[in-house]
Amino acid sequence: MFVAKTKQEIDRLIPRDRKVGFVPTMGALHDGHASLVAASNRDGHFTVASIFVNPTQFNDPKDFEKYPVDTERDLKTLEAAGCDLAFLPTRSEIYPAGTELDRYIHDFGAMENRFEGAFRPGHFRGVGQVVHILFETVRPDMAFFGEKDFQQLQVIKQLAKQLGSEIEIKGMPTVREPDGLAMSSRNRRLDPAQRTASTLLYEVLTKAAQALGKQGLDAIRAEVQRLFETNAHLRLEYFDIIDPATFLPRKDGDPGVYQAVIAAYAGDVRLIDNLRLD
Ligand code: PAF
Repeated sequence: MFVAKTKQEIDRLIPRDRKVGFVPTMGALHDGHASLVAASNRDGHFTVASIFVNPTQFNDPKDFEKYPVDTERDLKTLEAAGCDLAFLPTRSEIYPAGTELDRYIHDFGAMENRFEGAFRPGHFRGVGQVVHILFETVRPDMAFFGEKDFQQLQVIKQLAKQLGSEIEIKGMPTVREPDGLAMSSRNRRLDPAQRTASTLLYEVLTKAAQALGKQGLDAIRAEVQRLFETNAHLRLEYFDIIDPATFLPRKDGDPGVYQAVIAAYAGDVRLIDNLRLD
């Protein structure tokens, strides 16, 4: 596996006679990331994975400071997953002129005011900014993102459209621990009691899937609130059943897809998950 730290190295090391698959990450890699690398390889790409903890997408500076970093382990994970090139840019490589550069700031409209957008002001602008810069640097044919960050995936599809880019955006299924918890870099910050409690997120999503069509949506929403209120280790930030195209809450009888989305805190660790209910 090659390792590149600069755009010049990227340009030298990526064979442009191959299709390039790209897996952008913030490190602290787990099997979910490895599954994205594997998906890119399955498609026959030259696979590039980036590791860059992007400061502009953290609305909470403490979350940025505490974000787990373990580059040595990450490089082993990427190598084992069959990655061809790891891109480890420095902050000044990504933001040579500072982070406020207007031409990289995208407006994602209503997505910025709903759920993740509402609870993490500025988050999607930061994601859009860094993914735009990474796309420009790596110039992939296809880019792979986990469906765990379901709203981010929709935002990145919007970004690719706004850029008029040919890059195909591929959403890949969430990889879960055996007890259902969605894999996340943040999980390693959970203490044992929080880790045990955190299975409630997936539990309520599957319960909602089972209840759909048997109970009204408001009754399902109320039951989820109740389950979190009686849990000493978790604080629910939001749970809703939405239209995945607009992120507007569903009403009973609405036609189309129903998607449940959830965010909760275990101490200061923020967890998110989602599930298509039908
Ligand atoms: O999903 C992530 O890890 C990040 O939001 C991304 C897409 C790598 C941008 O920093």
